[in-house]
Amino acid sequence: MWGGRFEGGPADLMRSINSSIGTDKRLWREDVEASRAHAAMLGRQGIIPAEDAAAIEAGLIAIAEEFAELGVAEDSALEDIHMHVEQRLTEAIGPAAGRLHTARSRNDQVATDLKLFVRGAIDEALAAIDGLEAAILGRAEEQSATIMPGFTHLQSGQPVTLGHHLMAYREMLVRDRSRFADARARLNECPLGAAALAGTGFAIDRDSTAAALAFDRPTANSIDSVADRDFVVDYLHAAALCSVHLSRLAEEITLWASQPFAFVALPNAWSTGSSIMPNKRNPDAAELVRGHSARILGDLVALLVLLKGLPLAYAKDLQDDKTPLFDAHDLLIVSLHAMAGMVAEIGFDAERMRAAAENGHSTATDLADWLVADGGIPFREAHQIAGRAVAIAEAKGVGLSELSLEELQSIDPRIEAAAIERLSVEASVASRSSAGGTAPERVIEAIAAARAARRSQ
Ligand code: ARG
Repeated sequence: MWGGRFEGGPADLMRSINSSIGTDKRLWREDVEASRAHAAMLGRQGIIPAEDAAAIEAGLIAIAEEFAELGVAEDSALEDIHMHVEQRLTEAIGPAAGRLHTARSRNDQVATDLKLFVRGAIDEALAAIDGLEAAILGRAEEQSATIMPGFTHLQSGQPVTLGHHLMAYREMLVRDRSRFADARARLNECPLGAAALAGTGFAIDRDSTAAALAFDRPTANSIDSVADRDFVVDYLHAAALCSVHLSRLAEEITLWASQPFAFVALPNAWSTGSSIMPNKRNPDAAELVRGHSARILGDLVALLVLLKGLPLAYAKDLQDDKTPLFDAHDLLIVSLHAMAGMVAEIGFDAERMRAAAENGHSTATDLADWLVADGGIPFREAHQIAGRAVAIAEAKGVGLSELSLEELQSIDPRIEAAAIERLSVEASVASRSSAGGTAPERVIEAIAAARAARRSQ
């Protein structure tokens, strides 16, 4: 299609390094859609004869049906999806197909196709995020009063409720949703009509093609239109961070499923056995989600590095934007769905979690807080007193809440019986009722607020 000035064809290796059809055939829907919008506009503007525009339109519809049914038949002589669609069109309708590429270049064409693809990928990610959020809300509600150890430095810090812990992941998803929505809003300008890089002398109507493809408006600068891949970076960044969130959840599931923890039982549907150890039940799905996140992060970095040295406007390096984009999209969607399934079906061992929450004198802060609130003692001094109580409990090999009043009063006579009541894990979580705190009532409120937000979304 570009052979006019050449005498011989490209070397075999040149052909193969130049070819992207194996990857970008995935863009056939977007390519046909954008081509239809372009052809219809050319016809309306009188740039090509109306009957040719109509023939192109009908031909493109037929090609879409064919591709949907049979897939794109790869032809090694044609570089990319744009050429494949145009070639099929030529076979289908004859020379009128040659008018489609008027006032257009593959540079604005691929930018437009890619934006349509990323927009769809964002919508799929948003739907999958909603699915995971729904699973989290269901389990958080059921486990709103289940007590587990809350960790800092992976050391038991203070008891928390499992519902509260799960809802922490919901907050990450809310931010992910907002990042994807933001990326979607920012990308929604149509590059079509920028042509190769400078615009075109034909009297095209960019507003109408932008509207036909559901973009908010045409892009403002033709050079930027064909050189810009920020929207892919925005998408990959949102995907990378979302995958990091999934990876943290996957890591916790893996840890909790490990025998020394045994906080959870993995569902059959989301675990695998070992070919040698009959006793094994492995958290493969969680581990793969954790692994996929590494690849998605690599995809983001690949694209940033691809762009950083590129002079304006289009350069063929940009053809390599698709592999990381498609890879990240596929991995993210499967990860979100797998985590939704896992969260919905995992078994929580509430007794085991509660027992672990009692370890590590996790209510020492509650003793200090009682000394402050009821004893009028400054927090720093209260911290010291509670620390001495922990030392005695540790020396005796008992939990803090098992110390007698006499033993506590030997540390500080201001400690009263009421303080001891505060040292159970139940009392501890119930007391943490500040806004955003772990108390079961706050968790129930947070879930209700999340559900209301979903309804108004
Ligand atoms: N296959 C190319 C890509 O994905 C399409 C644009 C080609 N443009 C060009 N001037 N060679 O980037």
